[in-house]
Amino acid sequence: MFGALKRSLRRHRHVQLLSGLRDTQTPWRHHTQARACAGTPATLRLQDDCLVLNYRGTSIHLNYVWLRDHCRSAASYNSKTNQRNLDTGSIDLSIRPDSSTVEDGHLVLTWPGGHVSKYSLSWLAENSYEGKQQSTIQPRILWNSDIYQKANVPSAQWDTFMSCDDELKKFLQNYLLYGIAFVDGVPATVEATEAVTQRVSLIRETTYGRMWCFTSDFSRGDTAYSQLALDRHTDTSYFQEPCGIQVFHCLKHEGTGGRTLLVDGFYAAEKLRQQSPENFELLTRVPIRHEYIEKTDNHRNHMNGIGPVLNVYPWNNEVYLIRYNNYDRSVINTIPHDAVQRWYVAHRELTTELRRPENELWVKLTPGKVIFIDNWRVMHGRDSFTGLRQLCGCYLTRDDILSAARCVGLQA
Ligand SMILES: [Fe+2]
Repeated sequence: MFGALKRSLRRHRHVQLLSGLRDTQTPWRHHTQARACAGTPATLRLQDDCLVLNYRGTSIHLNYVWLRDHCRSAASYNSKTNQRNLDTGSIDLSIRPDSSTVEDGHLVLTWPGGHVSKYSLSWLAENSYEGKQQSTIQPRILWNSDIYQKANVPSAQWDTFMSCDDELKKFLQNYLLYGIAFVDGVPATVEATEAVTQRVSLIRETTYGRMWCFTSDFSRGDTAYSQLALDRHTDTSYFQEPCGIQVFHCLKHEGTGGRTLLVDGFYAAEKLRQQSPENFELLTRVPIRHEYIEKTDNHRNHMNGIGPVLNVYPWNNEVYLIRYNNYDRSVINTIPHDAVQRWYVAHRELTTELRRPENELWVKLTPGKVIFIDNWRVMHGRDSFTGLRQLCGCYLTRDDILSAARCVGLQA
């Protein structure tokens, strides 16, 4: 964080303070006129409950306890470990700064007792609630079949993917933008599939195992283990935290059919938001249950996941997770009677969007082609098929793929 502060300092080293004196008559309602950098004036106003910073055309409200809590001085924050040293529980909840000023693009506060906190204005703008409201957590390109195909997104190639960090970065960028990404030329074995996934993230072991490999033998109590068509759905919606990434590799198919269906759930959700904001909002607010009950000779499971169909960040309304699985959706008993009909109407409108043929991307997975699917965003399904079809894959942990992306400089 101090690196960022230093960069910010360098950017603003030509800044001149115009005025930063406290109004002694009305101590908590004074104004500071300052020039943060050429052409970007900053104004401070200290109110009873917060400091208001006008910067780059935005009024930023900064709570006093928050400001003390986010002090980046060495005593308050360890910039080597990026961890807080300050005990938040020791901050006086009625704390107010004794003085405030703006110097060289920084807000400088002196607290009772003499401790000085210094914050770059750009850091405050970026990290304030008002700043977050205007920013996207993860930039995405929403797609229907036409948009995705015209984008001509290249697949990564096994050889370079496994050895070249730049190839991995391109793959991660495509994955983040589109929610799907492919690696071609992978040897058609479980071992190679495992190796290619571990290049990206950690494998998330579930009740289906670490790496699973299945044929249409009904070995588990799930429709996936049949030859039947599967409608679009997200997997493991019955987990409290659904698996982040789904990996498929078709090792062998001697028969017909079995194409994979992909649908961008966020594209459909945005259509719904535009057409019927009230229906969109209802699907973000009403929690429902998904459930997986398995009672076979070898497996006993009872999973229960609770959450709305559409999950949005409350500060900017960005969709980050969709739970949509009509097979696994459980008894709806979490909605008051007067909302049930409205929920079905909203769900139907989303379903209509998800089922538009122009939103369906059909892909024939062949040996060598490994697909990574963002299971929080892109739905998958399949055609029915004939003959022996052997598929292997796994789930990956979402935190680790996003961490890998951030570590190579991508926004995730
Ligand atoms: Fe599935």
